[in-house]
Amino acid sequence: MKKKIGIIGGGQLGLMIAQEAHRLGAVVSALDPAPDAPAFAETDSHIVAAYDDLEALEKLGDMSDVLTYEFENVPGDILRHLEGKYDIKQGIAPLFDSQDRLREKNNAKKHGLPTPAYVAVPACSASEDCTEVPSKLSDDQRKRELENAVARIGIPCVLKTRRLGYDGHGQAVIKTAADIPQAAQLLSVPCILESFVDFDYEASVVMVSDGSRTIHFPIGRNIHKGGILDLSIVPAKGMYRNSMAGGTKDMEESALGLKIAGACEHFMEDCGYKGILAIELFIKGDDFVFNEMAPRPHNSGHYTIEGCTTNQYRELCRFLLGEPLEVPELIAPTVMKNILGQDLDAAWSVVRASDAGISGNSFCGEAGTGVYVHIYGKTESRPKRKMGHITFVPMTLEEYDECWADKFVYGKYIDGK
Ligand SMILES: Nc1ncnc2c1ncn2[C@@H]1O[C@H](COP(=O)(O)OP(=O)(O)O)[C@@H](O)[C@H]1O
Ligand SMILES: [Mg+2]
Repeated sequence: MKKKIGIIGGGQLGLMIAQEAHRLGAVVSALDPAPDAPAFAETDSHIVAAYDDLEALEKLGDMSDVLTYEFENVPGDILRHLEGKYDIKQGIAPLFDSQDRLREKNNAKKHGLPTPAYVAVPACSASEDCTEVPSKLSDDQRKRELENAVARIGIPCVLKTRRLGYDGHGQAVIKTAADIPQAAQLLSVPCILESFVDFDYEASVVMVSDGSRTIHFPIGRNIHKGGILDLSIVPAKGMYRNSMAGGTKDMEESALGLKIAGACEHFMEDCGYKGILAIELFIKGDDFVFNEMAPRPHNSGHYTIEGCTTNQYRELCRFLLGEPLEVPELIAPTVMKNILGQDLDAAWSVVRASDAGISGNSFCGEAGTGVYVHIYGKTESRPKRKMGHITFVPMTLEEYDECWADKFVYGKYIDGK
């Protein structure tokens, strides 16, 4: 009997989970409010319904042997109803812990990951995670609460809504005291104020655990533009010894890479999380701090599909299907370029060139042998909307800058910017 996987959420992550689930011989269903959700093109059946429609979620549960989620903001209370009844194999704890930035950072600290300095705004002391909803604040109170918090954290700092933020939405950077009144407008909902980290670069670690063994994918460096991931470069320089020179075969993690992978795996195990978990980090010198986590496949892990011997979607499915996990290895240096609406035409021109038999080689010598374009099939394209991604293997950041960067809106990456 084929095993049936049900996915709560039908975006591009759901699409790629479904593709790998099919490769492993499973049957897949997904639930999403959008009738044209990308995953529906791959799933065997689907349900169009809101994430808080308990009846529809139960229908998905009844159709499936095991449930997973690719959308982070499924209401926690709804999931609690499903938890006892269906096999949500990852459990709901990692989702619940990641849904509120205050709880998320308290939890990171508690389980050994360093964080930037932070405080809740408005200030609260009743419980550690301050789950009680504060009463509505007047404009004056908002400003005062934020001024008090800024006095504790220092400038520069970042104010973020505790819930429902993504791709830089719901955030305001405070560089001088003059930024406070504008930022205070975010305080119509509870927020967290963090110190602004002057990082060298951002990195992420994607892990999969079956409860007895945890694997992690090679650590990549992430470049964000306007709060949205633009490029992932793997391996991240500094995380591996002999990373470029000796090829990837003998790639060994550096002291920093080992420290980060060890701390992240320890965190996942200490929390008792199973399934997939991505952790975003800020790297400064030989140190790192936790930024946020996501208990689902991660945008920065798209590169694993072609860049590694096994990928984040397949290992998640292996976990869901109860199969042994495989340790991933990097095949070659890899660059993943996110395709937002503004770059969709450029991405299609790459597809057309390859359909016409023009290989990646023609664009740039040896660099670009493998150019893998993924278009998610979303019906409406908008600037800043994630429409697809391109993975280049083998490719370094320098080669990407030289050969490909000018085809896309953000252009060349300049080190240090
Ligand atoms: N404390 C911080 N210091 C410096 N940059 C930050 C900080 N918090 C967020 N950023 C920048 O904003 C980006 C988005 O913030 P993040 O907290 O990851 O929220 P989300 O990805 O959910 O929108 C980060 O990848 C980073 O580039
Ligand atoms: Mg983030």
